[in-house]
Amino acid sequence: MPDIYFLNNQFLKLQDAKISINDRGFQFGDGVYEVVRTYRGKIFHLESHLVRFERSAAGLQIPMPFSNFELKAKIEEAFERSGYSDAKIYMQMTRGTAERGHAFPPGLIPTFLITVLELHSFPADLKQHGVGMITTEDIRWGRCDIKSINLLPNVLAQQEAKSAGVYEALMVRDGVVTEGSISNFFMIKQMSLCTPPLNQNILPGVTRDVILKLARDLKIPILEKNILVSEIYEADEVFLSGTTVEIVPVVKIDGRAIGEGSPGPLTQRLMKEFQIYTKIA
Ligand code: PDD
Repeated sequence: MPDIYFLNNQFLKLQDAKISINDRGFQFGDGVYEVVRTYRGKIFHLESHLVRFERSAAGLQIPMPFSNFELKAKIEEAFERSGYSDAKIYMQMTRGTAERGHAFPPGLIPTFLITVLELHSFPADLKQHGVGMITTEDIRWGRCDIKSINLLPNVLAQQEAKSAGVYEALMVRDGVVTEGSISNFFMIKQMSLCTPPLNQNILPGVTRDVILKLARDLKIPILEKNILVSEIYEADEVFLSGTTVEIVPVVKIDGRAIGEGSPGPLTQRLMKEFQIYTKIA
């Protein structure tokens, strides 16, 4: 089955999908993106991703070249052409191409890309036994709610995690936990589910939203509140969320065991409910 590359309204082979060296995405990281996944031939929460995509574009004053309806049709066509059952759909839009200059000229035509690649599911043993995480300073800008392709601090944080031999780096701003370099953060303390509130410091994760809905349905008390880094080591359970990885239990932070040092019961319950939900959503 083929990987799919759709660039500026054309389906192309990877080697033919080219952009200008004057593309503002290439020169300034001036663009937005989304990562969407599918389960058994069905796109998961596409509408939520499209709403966030449009919101991100508006945040950077990039005009949408397509309506929501057209965008959906393009993504669905790209996915159908791939023939994959479980796929990772990447969507990126940059401001467009212009001679280099920080301020942007009016009337640029955005560069728009969709790729569809086969999704290899997250290693089952890591889900079963949990992963390690380190903390690192959050050096990102003040609009982390925009899913911008300008990801340098996330790249450096993720690399720091890899170098430390752990799965993720949890970013901390002024002593308060924000999110992972590629994931949202949750902890469980005294049977309550705690997660940082939605504001400009974190990405409003689609998976985060689903988890909160499942927790509500399970009558698990939810606290959306600022979490001090000093609190996380005392958590009963910790997990991370993201589109491709779903829920990942964290059993060690900065070398210190969390709870019993293995995935906790509420995390496992939510993982199970999440699996069920992906079959009906
Ligand atoms: N990232 N926070 C950050 C900084 C992220 O990069 C991501 C996901 C999330 C989780 O959001 P969602 O549940 O909507 O996937 C939170 C994607 C997958 C990526 O950059 O590849």
